[in-house]
Amino acid sequence: MLKVGFVGSGFVAKFHFKSFISVPTARVTAVYSPSGRKDLVKLAQELGYPEPKVYTDLRKMLNKEDLDALWILVPNYVRLNITKTLVEEVNQGKAKIKAVAYEKPLARNLKEARDIYKLVKKAGLLHGYLENQVFAPSVIRGHDILWRRGAALTGRPYLSRAAEEHGGPHSPWFWNPILSGGGVLLDMGCHSIEACRFLLSKPGENYRDLKPVKVLGFTATLKWHRKEYAKWLMKFAGVDYSVLPVEDYARVIITYETSDGYCVVAESSNAWSFVGPGLRLTFELFGPEYYMAINTLQPELFVFFSRNVKGKAGEDLVEKQMAEQGLMPALPDEAFTYGYVYEDQEIAQAFANNTIPRENLEHAVEVMELLMAAYKSAELGKPVKLPDPSLIDYRPLPFRKGQEVLGQFTK
Ligand SMILES: NC(=O)c1ccc[n+]([C@@H]2O[C@H](COP(=O)([O-])OP(=O)(O)OC[C@H]3O[C@@H](n4cnc5c(N)ncnc54)[C@H](O)[C@@H]3O)[C@@H](O)[C@H]2O)c1
Repeated sequence: MLKVGFVGSGFVAKFHFKSFISVPTARVTAVYSPSGRKDLVKLAQELGYPEPKVYTDLRKMLNKEDLDALWILVPNYVRLNITKTLVEEVNQGKAKIKAVAYEKPLARNLKEARDIYKLVKKAGLLHGYLENQVFAPSVIRGHDILWRRGAALTGRPYLSRAAEEHGGPHSPWFWNPILSGGGVLLDMGCHSIEACRFLLSKPGENYRDLKPVKVLGFTATLKWHRKEYAKWLMKFAGVDYSVLPVEDYARVIITYETSDGYCVVAESSNAWSFVGPGLRLTFELFGPEYYMAINTLQPELFVFFSRNVKGKAGEDLVEKQMAEQGLMPALPDEAFTYGYVYEDQEIAQAFANNTIPRENLEHAVEVMELLMAAYKSAELGKPVKLPDPSLIDYRPLPFRKGQEVLGQFTK
């Protein structure tokens, strides 16, 4: 039984916790929560799962608990420091962990991402990248069917599209580019870029058959700089989008050369400015004689509430739900649909087998490089050719602008 410790107990930790119920070879036994919040203990009680022990001190958790692996589920700006702490404990023999898995995006920029990867490798740890969308059951199934039937007979696919869109993040730190590193491009572009790579890549190749050669990025602030929304955001997150150009919309086109000499294209689109029933994930794949499409807001289940049902606002139908009346899509098991269950199963199993999972920190760093290229392209207004060695020192414009106005606009 792989003993897992969670570092962080916020929104995404709850998804993982629910999904671990379906991981028979692993158990979450401890949680580091700096605020000491007992949300996951409560959740364990509700789910009939053994209660994890909660620690407010990370070193103490690492020293006292006999953990095999850590799931790093804290905000982007704390990742590097957390990694330094845990690697220190491992190197001094005070922590026995052998593996670590990180939520997306790995960090705020390429330099931080590479530093994390170097530290983890140097400490001899197995590593995983928690990019759930490439474990989403319909994405895996669609990829399998199209490659097995369509691509095998008529040639590899040439265009993938992925989008993740919702009305904006739930915690203040996401909105502050100094803490998050950027806006929606960093936060959700990382998902869509990786999902597109997955769909375009030959089964078993793990993206080695795709060489990125050109990135075209476009970003804009469409909603949250408007007066009434900027005012709300200032109150919620202490940042003023009417003066800080943090993108709530992004589009990225990446050109890849394949190992068999073709040019294929990945198109991703992301928004914090989408007002619909809730989080919408869409994926498409085009090939010479085939096509697939996924839309998580078109599930099997729809419910309807008349105008006389005036219940409390909640997220019990879908993540980032925005309404409680009318015809509403509802997902029976979000952790499963979004890919958390297969992700945690596969990564925990790889760690239990002492292997590096297919989705690992090498991928996390590659995604970060593509994201930095997209930000740079959006800033310059022209495509960025890869490889581009200057990306290591590049910081997204919203982050740099945020630093400039830090004292004035952040709490
Ligand atoms: N895979 C997905 O679809 C998905 C969804 C949501 C979030 N995420 C990622 O997961 C990470 C966490 O996001 P979230 O939504 O859970 O955030 P959150 O704000 O809901 O929770 C953050 C957690 O980190 C802890 N924390 C905050 N500051 C800390 C610090 N300085 N040191 C240590 N711990 C600290 C908080 O106590 C809390 O437990 C982010 O990187 C985010 O991008 C991924």
